Amino acid sequence: MIQTPKCFAFFFLFLLFFNTRAQEQTGKRAQWFVDARFGMFIHWGIYSGAEGYWKGEKLRNDNDYAEWIQYRNRIDKEAYTTLLERFDWETIDPEAWVLLAKASGMKYITLTAKHHDGFALWNSKTSNYNVYQYSNPKRDILKELAQACKKHDIKLGLYYSHWIDWAHPNAWDHTKEIYGLASEDYDRYWQQKVIPQMRELLTEYGDIGMIWFDMWIHHSKTIVTKAQLNQLKNLIRELQPQCLINSRLGLAIEEDSDVDFRTLGDNQLGTEKLDYPWQTPATVAHSWGYFAHETQWKSTTTLLRNLIDNVSLNGNFMLNIGPRANGTLPYEVENRLKTMGDWLKVHGSAIYESEGFELSAKRHDWGTITMNKKTPKAVKVYLHLTQWPLENQITVTGIKTKPIKIYALADQNKNPLNFTHHDVLTKITLPDKAPDPYISVLAMEFNHKPETEKGLVAISTKEEFNFNISNASEIEGDGRPFKKSRYGTIPAHLHVESKQKMKWRIYIDKPGNYTLSASYSYQHQQPGGNIRVIIGEQIRTQGVQPTGKTVGEPLQNWVIPAFTTHEVGIFHFGEKGFYTVEMDLEPQKNAPIQWQSLWMGKSK
Ligand code: GLC
Repeated sequence: MIQTPKCFAFFFLFLLFFNTRAQEQTGKRAQWFVDARFGMFIHWGIYSGAEGYWKGEKLRNDNDYAEWIQYRNRIDKEAYTTLLERFDWETIDPEAWVLLAKASGMKYITLTAKHHDGFALWNSKTSNYNVYQYSNPKRDILKELAQACKKHDIKLGLYYSHWIDWAHPNAWDHTKEIYGLASEDYDRYWQQKVIPQMRELLTEYGDIGMIWFDMWIHHSKTIVTKAQLNQLKNLIRELQPQCLINSRLGLAIEEDSDVDFRTLGDNQLGTEKLDYPWQTPATVAHSWGYFAHETQWKSTTTLLRNLIDNVSLNGNFMLNIGPRANGTLPYEVENRLKTMGDWLKVHGSAIYESEGFELSAKRHDWGTITMNKKTPKAVKVYLHLTQWPLENQITVTGIKTKPIKIYALADQNKNPLNFTHHDVLTKITLPDKAPDPYISVLAMEFNHKPETEKGLVAISTKEEFNFNISNASEIEGDGRPFKKSRYGTIPAHLHVESKQKMKWRIYIDKPGNYTLSASYSYQHQQPGGNIRVIIGEQIRTQGVQPTGKTVGEPLQNWVIPAFTTHEVGIFHFGEKGFYTVEMDLEPQKNAPIQWQSLWMGKSK
């Protein structure tokens, strides 16, 4: 039947209604997850015994994903299981992992119940290839972990590799791209292993908070069919209706609103606020399974920043540990995690049950903002200071309501900090010393949910303005945005070939004269084109000047266009208030301008 546009619209509305209903469901189901914000991932399995090396050779991939050693170094199953000889069954203690999660301020754990190698970490009746059969004395690691989680009030999630399984003869491993695999054969694996194992996991280990699938590609590009995924999903819904399902099931959250949260790429952090739950799976260094020669440790500050940034965009952060064959962890991991836990003991109210504030998350140069959802009386907005400015002052741009009190969360006495509040600006005076060595957090308390003025360009710590593509309130023209390139030596900019207009909104609290300049690159010998800036009645126009080239690195034939700063003029602001800054760029024909930004600061 050919659909008329009307009937198509009806169909679309129906879909929308259906999706919203389902999203309400997922919203309710995922509430604990959204409130929790911080979880632990555990990659532990036979590969932990290899530590990233096989017969003296390192894993054949620079990504150092030690849990891939069997596949990468082409190890057959029998040889691979000899790695279990390194396991020390006397010392392995899943409760210790749970206690570490607890001490680190994590609220849930996701264990690799079955990773790509196909080895089950529980006493699976479906397949003998499991830890119970291969340990001495016999251990059901999942059962022990589940009990410890229950005891210490930690939610349990299970990673299950459904798409890939290197142990089952009919399952997928990437060599099948060369040698082929019939879908009927693959379905045999699905019905013989995936479905029955999933039934075991969902019936024998108590409440399962989430099943974390790991097909990072949409199912349509794989051998897995939508029917198989639906079968799996329906089984989960039937056995544990409250269990969450992540998008690496192989279905996008936009396409199937029954998927509870989106999993970003490995170590991929959020970039925008999303209105459904999402999570970054992250590592402390790079590998997931234990890798003996790990070197790329992220600092504790970086990890805290990642967590905070995700929360400020309504996301979760799940940080991985890769225990060794005796269950222990390297100092580098344990130390960072516990320090994060110490930080969270003091600053947890800005993370748990918190979310992004309604002002754009990345506008302030001093850090980012979160808001606690569950404090209706004294509504709290949290300022996470990722720097401690020498000026001893920061400005919050955009909050119209005057706070009743501002204090550092690390200050047990909640001593109020001095601040001023005018219209949309809150200026806070900071003590000389940062209250926390990693990231200090200030709490702003309000009587009710504060009102905001959105879209303003934030005043920087140095009391200047930087106007660019990402904080513009209006953009008109065909200019093409370019991300920074050549290792950042060429900044992000707009390639402008014809008339381009942009507008920004600001609030001026210190009237007087301000100098405004433009940064751009113009690759011509002679001046050409104009840049005009209009603020109220004041108009300043300058010709665009050639900026020449610069060298990125010496002696590497690395020549790049230079971006340089050019004064456009002085503007006078007679009184406090809101202003619109408008820029008109008028390039000459066939003489594009690479426009980067405008800067404005008080004239000396
Ligand atoms: C990737 C890898 C896997 C790891 C996972 C964690 O999908 O294949 O080894 O478990 O990412 O996010």
